[in-house]
Amino acid sequence: MNAADVTLFDHARKQLRSLCDVAGFEATDQNPVLLLEDLLGPAGRLPLRERPRYPSDVADDGTPVEFSVAFDDDGALAVRLLGEAGGENPGHSPDIAAGKRFLQAAGKRFRFPVERFAAVADLFLPEQPRGRFAVWFSVILRPRERPRLKAYFNPGVQGRHRAPALVAEGLRRLGLGDAYEIARRHALTRGPRDQLSFFAVDLDDSPLSRVKLYISHENAGPADAERAAAAVEGADPLRIREFCEVVGGGTTRFTGRPLVSSYSFVEAEPAGPGTYSLYLPVRDYVPDDEVARERVATFLAAHGIGPDRLDGALAAVARRPLRAGVGLLAHVSLRLGPFGAGTTVYLSSEAYGVCPPRERADTVLGTGAVDSAMTP
Ligand code: TRP
Repeated sequence: MNAADVTLFDHARKQLRSLCDVAGFEATDQNPVLLLEDLLGPAGRLPLRERPRYPSDVADDGTPVEFSVAFDDDGALAVRLLGEAGGENPGHSPDIAAGKRFLQAAGKRFRFPVERFAAVADLFLPEQPRGRFAVWFSVILRPRERPRLKAYFNPGVQGRHRAPALVAEGLRRLGLGDAYEIARRHALTRGPRDQLSFFAVDLDDSPLSRVKLYISHENAGPADAERAAAAVEGADPLRIREFCEVVGGGTTRFTGRPLVSSYSFVEAEPAGPGTYSLYLPVRDYVPDDEVARERVATFLAAHGIGPDRLDGALAAVARRPLRAGVGLLAHVSLRLGPFGAGTTVYLSSEAYGVCPPRERADTVLGTGAVDSAMTP
């Protein structure tokens, strides 16, 4: 095939297949690729040279899909896809229709129960959605297990001022009446700098299916994350400090893209959130991906995980040397709580563009200032 004709689906499929190989999936397991195809929908069939018709906020270059690899402390590995089902036309209303089509197709194929989606859809999917997205999905894949699905909604979809009421009502409908107050007390304490950013629902019917609430903290430091984590029993504040120090490279105030907290609540466990996660947008705090990789490898090594599978995952997705860009490693997250801890690395597909590296403090790369515009 002529390189110019490679489609978004072809590009992302190869990356996903290689990631699944690294994570120990059977070579015959077609589920990951089927789900990717359903999720991308018609957008997946467009050649890359056409650029994203309607750039998605899932990734910086407008690619509507992002990969992640979760390293559990016990050695297990999961591969995930975060994606936006794109509509035929620009705008979030067509995106909502496309999201519903995906849910219907995948729901039928994999028997995902959609009741929890339906329970909050009228709140989060209004006629005239506002903000940076309306609905995203994530697919969670583990070797020899059934895929799982999660839907992400935008608390600001009816305007920022309505976010608290929407989230509180969404939680109430899902049997978690006290959850909003807990999140408010621990993570929404800094006025407009703390924002409700995502409301995510597990689409399965187990009593352990979760609702996840995400809060972004503009201009925050590690102490703000530690305070948010204190809502979860057994979330070790020292580990948060170490994570910010190592992955943030000594950053004390995250003034670029914000730190994000998330709590996951389970209906069977209404007393409080079972898990706290902290997301660090590493791409804003490194000159290039080689530095980002080094920091993640150091953090994993401190918790007994060698670099092989991290490097395998990076090689599966990267189409360039790590030092030649920044943003392949988009976020790194730390998960804490009584159900175990883990580290997740979010990897950009870079289907449409690579953000050029910034100058390293210790060396001079090239000449002149490097601007941060995407190059195809
Ligand atoms: N690209 C968006 C951002 O960086 C949304 C996003 C994608 C995101 N993956 C994420 C946000 C992981 C937090 C964590 O904000």
